Amino acid sequence: MRTLLILTGHTKGLGHAILDVFLSLESVQVVALSRTSLDLAHSNLKEIQLDLSDLDALEATIPKVFPKAEGFERCILINNAGWIGEVKPVGKLNPKGIQRAMNVNLLAPMTLTDAFVKAYRNHQAEKIILNVSSGAAQKPLPGWSEYCTGKAGLAMFSKVAHEELNGLGFRVFSVAPGIVDTGMQSEIRRADQQDFPALERFIGYKSEGKLSTPEEVAAKIFQLISHPELFPEVVQDVRNY
Ligand SMILES: NC(=O)c1ccc[n+]([C@@H]2O[C@H](COP(=O)([O-])OP(=O)(O)OC[C@H]3O[C@@H](n4cnc5c(N)ncnc54)[C@H](OP(=O)(O)O)[C@@H]3O)[C@@H](O)[C@H]2O)c1
Repeated sequence: MRTLLILTGHTKGLGHAILDVFLSLESVQVVALSRTSLDLAHSNLKEIQLDLSDLDALEATIPKVFPKAEGFERCILINNAGWIGEVKPVGKLNPKGIQRAMNVNLLAPMTLTDAFVKAYRNHQAEKIILNVSSGAAQKPLPGWSEYCTGKAGLAMFSKVAHEELNGLGFRVFSVAPGIVDTGMQSEIRRADQQDFPALERFIGYKSEGKLSTPEEVAAKIFQLISHPELFPEVVQDVRNY
C-alpha cells in the first residue's frame, strides 16, 4: 500500500523508532519535522527543520509539509513531538515556558491536524491522525501542570476531531505510549525532587527495568495504524493491547 506519513519529532526516541518502521516499508514517503535533522540520505524521506513552538514559523512552513495526495492509498499524520515542559509547581512557572509547552504539545499538533484535513479531505485514501498523548492526560502529577494540561487538551482535541471527521474517511487517535526509555525520561530524572515529588518513582522505573523500548512502542503504534478497524475508541494506550 503506497503510504504517506507526516511525522513530528522523528530525530530521537519514539519518533525515531516510528520513522525506522515506516522507512522499512516498500512503498512510503515520509515528511518529518524536528528542530534538528538526521541528514539521512534516504530518497523516501524529506526532513524539515522547524521549532514547533514557533507557531508563526509553523504556519509559514505548512505549504511545504503536505505533498499532493495523488498516488497515495494511505495518508497518516503522527503528531509525536513533545516536551515535558518546565517541571515545577504552579507559582514557579515562567510565562515563556508555559507558552512553549502549550505550543509544542497542543497548538502545533492542532495546527498540523487542521492543515492535514484541509490537504486531504477530498482524497479517497485511508486517512489516519495519531496524536501521541500520555497517561498524564488523565492523571494529575504535581510538577507537570504544563505537560498534563497540554496532553489532556490534545486528547480532548482528538475526541472532538473524531466526532467531526469520522464520517469523512478520517480516523483520529490519541495514543498513550506508556513509559518509554527516551531522552524525555532522562530529562524527567534530572528534575529537582522539591519541584517533582514523584522523582524517586521515575528513577525506579529506569533502575528496575520497567521502561519500554522505543522500538516496542513503535511496533504497537504501527499495529494500530495497520488495523484501525480493530480499535474503535479514540483514546488508546499501547499497554492495553
Ligand atoms: N518517553 C515517555 O515515557 C513518554 C511517555 C508518555 C508520552 N510520551 C510522548 O511521546 C512523544 C515522544 O517522546 P519521546 O519520549 O520520544 O521524547 P524525546 O526522546 O525527547 O524526543 C522528542 C522528539 O520531539 C522533537 N521535538 C521536541 N521539541 C520540539 C520542538 N520544539 N520542535 C520540533 N521538534 C521537537 C525532538 O527533536 P529535536 O530535538 O530534533 O527537535 C525529538 O525528535 C512525546 O509526545 C511525549 O510527550 C513519552
